[in-house]
Order: sequence, then structure tokens, then C-alpha cells
Amino acid sequence: MPPAAVLERPIERTKSRSHSSASPLMELDGMIHELIADGGPLPSDYALLNQKLRHLGDAVRAEVTKRADVLAYAKDLTRRHFEGSMQAMALDRKYGYSGDFEVIDGIYRQKVSNESHVRRWDLFFHAQAAPIAVRNRKAYFQDLLDQHHAASRSGSMRVLNVASGPARDLREWMLDNPKAEVLFDCVDADVHAIEHAKTLCRPFIDRVEFHHRNAMRFLPAKGYDLVWSAGLFDYLMDRSFVFLLKSLIAVTKAGGELVIGNFSPLNTSRDYMELLGDWTLIHRNEKQLIELAKEAGAPSSAITVDWEPEGVNLFLRIRR
Ligand SMILES: C[S@@+](CC[C@H](N)C(=O)[O-])C[C@H]1O[C@@H](n2cnc3c(N)ncnc32)[C@H](O)[C@@H]1O
Repeated sequence: MPPAAVLERPIERTKSRSHSSASPLMELDGMIHELIADGGPLPSDYALLNQKLRHLGDAVRAEVTKRADVLAYAKDLTRRHFEGSMQAMALDRKYGYSGDFEVIDGIYRQKVSNESHVRRWDLFFHAQAAPIAVRNRKAYFQDLLDQHHAASRSGSMRVLNVASGPARDLREWMLDNPKAEVLFDCVDADVHAIEHAKTLCRPFIDRVEFHHRNAMRFLPAKGYDLVWSAGLFDYLMDRSFVFLLKSLIAVTKAGGELVIGNFSPLNTSRDYMELLGDWTLIHRNEKQLIELAKEAGAPSSAITVDWEPEGVNLFLRIRR
């Protein structure tokens, strides 16, 4: 595989190479440079661009192309052409990990750069299945809050939100339900996420308590009607998944519910995320989630699995 700098050439030079059949990385690079020259991809370009990403993903899985070469290429390309884009933000890992609160909040707000040469690439990012699923899961959580709130006899309830990130979901729900007697405990391991979330939730701070803690080591043990966690379990290996799930089951009240989000293998933007964003998740299917829930001690009769409209984000639901 040529070094990334070799790939960083105008499309004409890429085309003029004597290769009879270009590698998937060369093919992708050729198309990307053509699109850069045209001002970025239009929706009519998405299918072919995604197909080239898929071919590259297949080559990486078959170990024909090295993942490290692709990552070096993605970083070089992004630094040269996509500074300030969502892709650059994802790749940058400003806070040391993928999918930080800024990236997630950028997805929720569908943040698009003011720079015209980056704008269409941001639109391409937001049109991917994964960001759509992330926005859908915000709506899913808000529906869940509606349902639990409507069903609570006293009208009051206590909610635990683990790995709360930007807490935009909470802010929006509280804005829609300003008088709701719902008390939230939010736990997040990133102090920057906590600060950002506190700012977003300032008008409701009497009902939202933030805990800057690692959820693997600390959970407020008050007893909750609803326990929610999205965007955390798909980073955990099975052992840690089961360990944390057990702790969450323990703090869910009898009659309450625990709901955990996890990306499914139906994530059609997985290659885009992994290859151009260096954003790797543990994708799990329905059966795997049910098995892990049983391992954590949940009876089969208490377990169901839902999904959002994109079918990418699954939700493991455990009734207590
Ligand atoms: C992908 S974001 C999801 C945010 C939010 N749940 C959402 O869906 O909008 C992941 C969040 O998990 C937090 N996180 C990661 N590991 C954690 C841990 N062990 N304990 C608590 N929070 C954690 C990160 O700091 C980050 O804010």
C-alpha cells in the first residue's frame, strides 16, 4: 500500500497510474478527489461513495488492505481538506475517545460548517445511517420518558441516565414538560460533558443532578423508575457489559424499567465510521443482547428488544 501522501494527489494523477485495477483505497481516493474538486458530494453521489467505502471495508476485513494505512490516509485527507467538519471532529478525539459529547451534540443539532468546501461533506455525514439512528434514539428516550411519566400513578418519578453526554435529550424533554415532577440523576465520566450538560439543563437544575463519575465504579443508589443508558454499552466488552448491567438492574425499582442502547450489525454506515472516523463500536444483535441480559440475572420473561426506525440502534429493555 502506498503511503498516504502518495494518495493525496489530484484525481488525474491517480487515474494515470499504470494499475490495471486500482485498489479499493485508490478507487475511493479517486472519487473523493473528484468530489472535492466539484465542491463536495451531492445526495446523488452518496450511493456510489458508500459503495466504495464498503469495498474498502471488505478489503480491510479480508486483510488485503491494512487498517493502519486507511487510518493514516483518513487523517491526512481530513487534515488537508475537511478541517472543521463533523468527520474531522470525530477523528480528532479531542477528549480522548470516540463519540464525545461534542460530536454527539453536533449530530443532534445537525451541525454543518459555514465553510462552503466542507458543507456538503457534513451533509453527507449527517445522512449516514448511524447519525440518523443517534437522532432517533434521542426521540426514543423522550418517548420512553413520556410513557413512564404518563403511567406513574403519583405523577412523580426518578430517572437514572448513565453516560448522559450532552444531555440535550433531557433539556428538550424538560422544555416540553416544564412542570413534570421528574428527578434525574446523570452520570458521566467526562467532566467536559458534565459542564456542557449542566449549561444545557441550567433552567431545570433543581430537578437534574449531575455526577462526574465512572459508572463502572459508582452509581447513585436511590432506586429508579427508569434507568437509561445509550452510547455506552456498545463500547463495553461482554464482561464489562454484564457487570454494569447487573449494577443497573440492582438500582431499578420493582415495577420500574431499565433500557440500554446498543448498535446492531445492521449499521450500514459502519465502514464510514470505522474507516474515515476511526470510530469503532461493538455491534450486537437481538439474540446477543438477550443472552447478556440473562447472564446479568434478568429472567427471560422480563426481557424485550426494540429498535429505532433506522434499525441501527437496538434497545434492550428489562422490566423489574
Ligand atoms: C456516545 S456518548 C452518549 C451520550 C448520551 N447518552 C447520548 O446518547 O446522547 C458517550 C458518553 O459516555 C461517557 N462515558 C464513557 N464511559 C463512561 C463510564 N465508564 N462512565 C460514565 N460515563 C462514561 C462519555 O464521557 C460520553 O459522554
